Amino acid sequence: VNIDEFRSLFPITRERAYLFSGAIAPSNERTEAALEEWARLWRSRPLLSYDAAVEQIEALRAAIARLLGVRATRVSISDNTSRASNTAVRLVRCPSGANVVFDETTYPSSRYPWLSLTAAAPRVAVGNPGERRSDAVIRCIDRDTVAVSISHVAPLTGVRHDLRAIADAAHRHGAVLIVDIAQTAGVVPISLDDDGVDMAVGTTMKWLLGPPGVGFLALRDEDLRETSGVDLGYMALDVAGEEWPQDALPPLWPDGRRLELGMPSLPVLNPAVAGIDLLLELGVSTVHRQVEALVGRCLEGLSDLGVEVRTPVDPADRAGVVAFEHPHAQELARRLAEDGVDIGGYDYGLGRVDPHAFNTVEDIDRFLDGVRRFSAPG
Ligand SMILES: Cc1ncc(COP(=O)(O)O)c(C=O)c1O
Repeated sequence: VNIDEFRSLFPITRERAYLFSGAIAPSNERTEAALEEWARLWRSRPLLSYDAAVEQIEALRAAIARLLGVRATRVSISDNTSRASNTAVRLVRCPSGANVVFDETTYPSSRYPWLSLTAAAPRVAVGNPGERRSDAVIRCIDRDTVAVSISHVAPLTGVRHDLRAIADAAHRHGAVLIVDIAQTAGVVPISLDDDGVDMAVGTTMKWLLGPPGVGFLALRDEDLRETSGVDLGYMALDVAGEEWPQDALPPLWPDGRRLELGMPSLPVLNPAVAGIDLLLELGVSTVHRQVEALVGRCLEGLSDLGVEVRTPVDPADRAGVVAFEHPHAQELARRLAEDGVDIGGYDYGLGRVDPHAFNTVEDIDRFLDGVRRFSAPG
């Protein structure tokens, strides 16, 4: 698909300027078709829909692996980012005296599991004025650091971390780098190994153009060796059902499946694959270019309007999230929605514009016009 064909697959684009894919992307014709197909099978041949589960899980695993540039055996499917993040935390050994490094922009799902599940001392990297966030994180890493847990792009600031630089510092001290890529997978080209990421977690409902209810954990082979202490379900077992032992732990799959529990939400598996396939068909680099052009225009327009923007000006330090201050964010979002423009962030007292590649310059200008009219006296 080219970018115009891509846009035409999103019915919402004919009605609204939808600018909040960092929360949930709208459906497209392909994901909807997959969802409807599942419902039809569920109605007519429920057992066939059930029997197709394993094949569909494997197709999803392969699609996520393609996106992240890793072998499929290194991907474990989960139901959301938060679950995947809890699993990642459980895989890190924390001797006494250990610490874990976050920064102020680390999303709660990558922060609180550490405080709940481990005794690692939290270190929150606070940047000095003018300092890059990634450098502040690097400053906090020492020989007792077992993990650095960050959001690649933070939803409340739009700041993007320099993964390679943080990975090098973490690895020098024997720590692992765990990254929440919910706000970058699909919009920034990512290769986990090139970026030095040891474990990555995310969800399909945002930039990956899929439905909610699917998350993932991608990890290294060595992290799959010692998995005692993680949740365990029958899907993790590498033995046939008739051989399940009564009183001993059966062998587990050697790959990402060993972290999977029971039946996932079947209706969303194929739609999730359809979303990732569509994205890869257009190409993540093309998505990135289009999103960067739209974000650039949005930042410029907001600054012309005198709006205080939280998102960095350097394209290398941001991705698809534009966060800005607004004293009446909630009312602004309500007024924009009445005019067919959807933005977010208002739950946090700010404004957020997260354009995807199906958006256009006209969508951004419609938003900027709405802000101008909202702020106009009288
Ligand atoms: C950085 C980040 N991580 C995770 C999530 C969502 O987590 P979950 O998939 O657990 O709902 C979001 C947004 O909602 C996010 O912005």
